[in-house]
Parts: sequence; C-alpha cells; structure tokens
Amino acid sequence: MSEFDVIIVGAGAAGLMCAARAGRRGRKVLLVDHAKKPGEKIRISGGGRCNFTNIGAGPQNFLSENRHFAKSALARFTPADFIAMVDRYGIAWHEKTLGQLFCDGSAKEIIAMLLAECEAGNVEIRLETPVTALEHSADRFRLSLDGMPASARTLVIATGGKSIPKMGATGFAYEVAERFGIRVIEPRPGLVPFTLDPGLQSELQPLAGIGVPVEVSCGKGQFNEAMLFTHRGLSGPAVLQVSSYWSPGDTVMVKIRPDIELADVLTAAKRENGRQGAASALATQLPKRLAQYFADRAGMTGHLADLSDKALARLADSIQDWRFKPAGTEGYRTAEVTLGGIDTKALSSRTMEARAVPGLYFIGECVDVTGWLGGYNFQWAWASGVAAGDAI
Ligand code: FDA
Repeated sequence: MSEFDVIIVGAGAAGLMCAARAGRRGRKVLLVDHAKKPGEKIRISGGGRCNFTNIGAGPQNFLSENRHFAKSALARFTPADFIAMVDRYGIAWHEKTLGQLFCDGSAKEIIAMLLAECEAGNVEIRLETPVTALEHSADRFRLSLDGMPASARTLVIATGGKSIPKMGATGFAYEVAERFGIRVIEPRPGLVPFTLDPGLQSELQPLAGIGVPVEVSCGKGQFNEAMLFTHRGLSGPAVLQVSSYWSPGDTVMVKIRPDIELADVLTAAKRENGRQGAASALATQLPKRLAQYFADRAGMTGHLADLSDKALARLADSIQDWRFKPAGTEGYRTAEVTLGGIDTKALSSRTMEARAVPGLYFIGECVDVTGWLGGYNFQWAWASGVAAGDAI
C-alpha cells in the first residue's frame, strides 16, 4: 500500500493547481488521471490559445444555487495572481476582448507551467490510472488505482463535469458525492449551441455561416455578443452564454444589431430612396442573406415607398424582437461546461472540504459553480484549486 498525505483524482486545471500548491507546502501528493495526458481541456481551450482568465472575474460572472459561495475563493486567488504566475514563467499573453486573456503562443505553455509547479512540489503524477475502488475508514481513504492500492488522509476530487465525453469526461465526482450522502444538483450542459425544431431549422438552413451582433436574453441572462447561424441551429458567444440560463420550454429573445434602431433606419431609407426594396435597405445594416430572409419572411417584396411606416416598424420588430423556443441543445457532446454539480451547501467556501466528510474535497467544474464564457471557468478552477491546495 503506497501512502500519501493527499491523493487528487483528476489532473485537469483544478487538480494540477491544487497538487502544485499542496506539494509546494511539503505535502506528499499523488495526482491520478485516467487520461493519457494531463490538462487536455486546457490544451484545446480558447482555440488552442487558452483563455486562461478574465481580468474582471468576480462572483457576478458565475451561476450557482448559492451565488455567495464562490466569493471567498475568488477573492483569495484573483486573476492578477494567475497573471503573476504566467508572467513568472515568461508566457506572453494578450487581452482579446471583454477582459479575456489568451496566450500569444499556445495553451500548452499553461500546461507546462502547471506541470513545472507540480514538479517543484515533488508531486507524483500517474496517468492512464483509473480509480477501481474507493473505501473510507479510520480517517483514511483507500483507493485501488488500476489495481494498485494507495491511501491518504485527504482525498481531493477534481474530475470536472460531463462535458465532452469523447475527451474522457465522466460523472465520477457526482458518484463519489452520492456515495458519501452529499447532494448533487442535477448536472446539465452549459455554454452549448441551441438546436431548433425541424421547421425553423430548415427555414434558417440557408443562413448557415452568418454571424451578427445581438443582444440575447433568457431568464436572468442577457448578453451583447455575436450570434452564429449554423447547419445544426444557433451558436456563437451570445448563444453559448445565454444557453446556461435556458431551461427546456423557455423562450429566447434576440435583438439583432442592438446598437441601432432599425425602424428609424427603414423609415429614413424610405424617405431618401423610396424605390429601393426592404431587403436592400436592410442589407445596409445586416448581412445580405439575412436581410433577404427577414424581408421575404415578412412578405415585403415591393418598394419601400409602398409600405406604411407601421409595416416597416413591424419588420424592424421581427428582427429586433425576434423570439424563438429552442428545441434543445447539442448536449454534453459540445457543451463547454457542466452546470449544477456538488451542492455548495455541503462544502466549506474557504477550503472546499465536505462538511460531513472531513478530508474529502471537491474542486473545479464538478462543484455547482459555473462561469460565463470568457476565461471565468478557468479562474474558478485555479481559485478553488488554490483554496483546497492551501488547506490540505
Ligand atoms: P477538467 O475537465 O479540466 O479536468 C478533469 C480531469 O479529470 C481530466 O483530466 C479528466 O481526464 C479527469 N477525469 C475525469 N473522470 C475521471 C475518472 N473517473 N478517473 C480519473 N480521472 C478522471 N474555460 C475557460 O475559462 N477558458 C477557455 O478558453 C475555455 N475553453 C474551453 C474549450 C472547450 C472546448 C471546453 C470543453 C471547455 C473550455 N473551457 C474554458 C472550460 C474549462 O476547460 C473547464 O471549466 C475546466 O477545464 C474545468 O477544470 P477542472 O479541473 O474542474 O476539470
């Protein structure tokens, strides 16, 4: 039986950070993962450049049944703390938009940095190692790691959510929580494209590939970003953002080109050149195919001069107060994150330790704290990893 102070399951963003912190504090740490390589989601994130944090990250950018839970960890390990670490390693970065920080080079630099931190803390990393059994007695966790026994007083679960099963995502954290009687808030896909019912989908099919600025809202979520028509439905940052606020049956509201009043643009166009059609007038503000689609849908084929201002206002409304009910989402196959997870009421917000099971910790995406798109989810992974890593 190999004995450790700490065993961490999951060598992703949160697990690597936690292992490095605990190792550097002199703990004997074993970090295990069933995947071939550590930090695979870091590697593919941000289109290969890793949107590793957001300079404005705060509790307001996260969804959770308890919006206060994340405050403590986020305040004790801030975006500036992560940037300082990135700078120490000489990793070049830039702000893309909306406070989102990306590597200039490759996401692999972030993985290399975390592995170097683990090495400095003498962390033992075992990959391709599934947990085949888990027992808890006399204040020790005993694990069978691909048949090899190992034990520790502290067990940290950092196995993430269910998103992208093709990359090895599992519901392991939820199974462990349930086994110890800890409530799990039903996990569901977040930051995920919408699918549409077949009628609307075939109507919008010719628009695939078009991107347009929108203000999109659903429930308490409202975002001003781009929306993308795809062959499967609707995507783009605005849609991914609002999907986290959507429940089946909810209507989504879209204002295309929220920066202008389209009704005013159309009436002005009518005054200036009444012989043009609605589609041409719209095409001064929208991509041509989209302009044609909305004009056709409203049955507006004649000259602007022949259309009443009321009719033009109705057309503008159909574009700036567009409402639809998604049929669903693309699900875990493409979701960037998993909403829900380990109930935060069961955890200490300072340390991430389970209140009812001393020595058991949950960190990262498996916890019911889910960030917006834009570097917030990694910031939570780093901050919750540090909160646990400094406590164990
Ligand atoms: P993470 O998923 O990183 O790690 C979990 C680890 O546990 C994995 O290594 C996995 O193999 C392992 N594991 C799972 N089950 C196991 C089991 N049963 N036994 C052993 N090991 C197991 N966020 C962001 O802030 N900026 C961004 O740019 C992006 N981009 C992005 C792109 C894409 C395509 C996706 C899918 C996601 C993002 N994200 C993101 C989200 C971000 O990747 C995510 O929130 C964090 O990686 C979560 O960190 P965790 O460590 O909690 O889980």
